[in-house]
Amino acid sequence: MSELHTATPGRAWWRDAVVYQVYVRSFADANGDGRGDLQGIIDHMPYLQQLGVDAIWLCPCFPSPQMDHGYDVADYFDIEPTYGNLDTFDRMVAAASGHGIKVMLDVVPNHCSSQHAWFQAALAAPKGSPERDRFYFRDGKGEHGELPPNNWTAIFGGPAWTRVTEPDGTLGQWYLHVFTPWQPDFNWENEDVADHFDRMLAFWFDRGVEGFRVDAVGVVGKTEGLPDQVIDPNAGTATEQAGKNEHIQFKPRAHDYWRRWRRVIDAYQAEHPGRDLVTVSEAYTPGRPDLLLKFVEPDQFHQSFNFDLMLAPWIAGPIRHSVAEVYDVLTGAGASVTWTLNNHDTQRAVTRYGRANATEMVSWTKNNLVYVDAPVDEALGLRRAEAMVAFAAGLPGSLYLYQGEELGLPEVLDVPADRREDPLFARTGGKEIGRDGCRIPLPWTDDAATAFGFSPADHAEPWLPLPAEWGRYAASVQAGDDDSTLGLYRHLLEHRRALDVDAPLAWVLADSDELVAYRRGKVTVVLNVTDHAMTLPADLVGNGTVIVTSVRGHDDPTTVPSDSCIWLLDR
Ligand code: NOJ
Repeated sequence: MSELHTATPGRAWWRDAVVYQVYVRSFADANGDGRGDLQGIIDHMPYLQQLGVDAIWLCPCFPSPQMDHGYDVADYFDIEPTYGNLDTFDRMVAAASGHGIKVMLDVVPNHCSSQHAWFQAALAAPKGSPERDRFYFRDGKGEHGELPPNNWTAIFGGPAWTRVTEPDGTLGQWYLHVFTPWQPDFNWENEDVADHFDRMLAFWFDRGVEGFRVDAVGVVGKTEGLPDQVIDPNAGTATEQAGKNEHIQFKPRAHDYWRRWRRVIDAYQAEHPGRDLVTVSEAYTPGRPDLLLKFVEPDQFHQSFNFDLMLAPWIAGPIRHSVAEVYDVLTGAGASVTWTLNNHDTQRAVTRYGRANATEMVSWTKNNLVYVDAPVDEALGLRRAEAMVAFAAGLPGSLYLYQGEELGLPEVLDVPADRREDPLFARTGGKEIGRDGCRIPLPWTDDAATAFGFSPADHAEPWLPLPAEWGRYAASVQAGDDDSTLGLYRHLLEHRRALDVDAPLAWVLADSDELVAYRRGKVTVVLNVTDHAMTLPADLVGNGTVIVTSVRGHDDPTTVPSDSCIWLLDR
């Protein structure tokens, strides 16, 4: 555990933690099958420790047909065989603990895989059976039930209903899936479902897991009676259309399910002194901190992802506003705040900030699955991404990093269509390119023969191709270079640890269109979003010295270079 946390007895570790998201399939392939695995994570534990993270969050690593790469869980109580088994998992938790790192898993409560034993049992069972009641099975409309029960559209394209073939071979009922047909939605009003997840939480806590990222909480629970949605002819994409379906989004009833979880978790913790469990919920609530706050009421999740900063364009006002709004509402209610700039569903920051229109309001889609396709200047994008992480790392709260951002990886935009695996791409007929570009396997070395160290020498083709020039981003190439992106991240996390965790956020230069600046205790953080160097007012600089700079070698406390961030420490 970091000094920062031990220095503050009684303060929950996760309130100020740096959590590193591991997309297991793309992290490191130890057995040569072209997919990452748990042994690969064990092998790279020293790297994570040197980076300075407090915890890792593993994207779903349960048995899964991988139709949505693990977000289609076939068994919540085991490990995906291509990743390892429960023994490997236990060894991984032990290795993490040996390196001072906690392990968080990813639980998917809204839906499971269509291969899950319960769904298979539901298919085999008759209409009206207890097996079908765990999901949403309904009769179709039309004379022969040939039309879906309502007009809901799926988030990943197409209708949100699929018709089943009954055991006697006739076409029968329909089942609901707000993502893909391979992800049937659970009916959370069914006690079996609620009980299943109570057991799941305890099962993994018993194995040493310290917390969970909770997937897609915003769509758990549906309007009773499942009425039609209002179709918006102007919704640009499938994701936007489904996002406007009030009958699947943010249903108040779902908060009762989360209260139940919190009771289970608090009871577990009470029985296991010394444990400090955490849950972080995932819901996109851009511009709606009130909605976000509902998930972090004291009897629900410990934290919730805040994506507003991640979605903001490279403009001072929206950046400041997105931070201030969420910070004020959440801390005002005593809740913990989280910051993140990347994840496995979003174009990488280097590419987003390098877009020709990143400085225009038009790039602010407020939706991580709607991509603009303005040309990209990668060098500029990297410069800005480094500045932004320096800015975010000083904010009060916890910081969630996504694997590869510490290497400065860009989005891979030219994954060949026949290699794309994201169901979003296939289900929208290629209209939405999907998320493969931020899920490319990590380059660990510059050795092309081993897929840049992702795999061992004798290996199968990586599940997604690594670009030929990716050796230059390799961890081994950057490790010895303090001026690399990796060097910057290490330096940044070290200085972050020295921050006074109790120091609140105080805005300075709050009206500036060029600088976004705040103070925390003795540290002043200044982000310059313009294309020219900015001189700082003398009273702001005081006797401060530069302790962090995203532009290497910059040590003048009175100026901030273009598209960069500095931290000044009062002497
Ligand atoms: C959100 C996850 O982050 C995403 O990857 C997944 O496809 C959907 N939820 C469905 O589980």
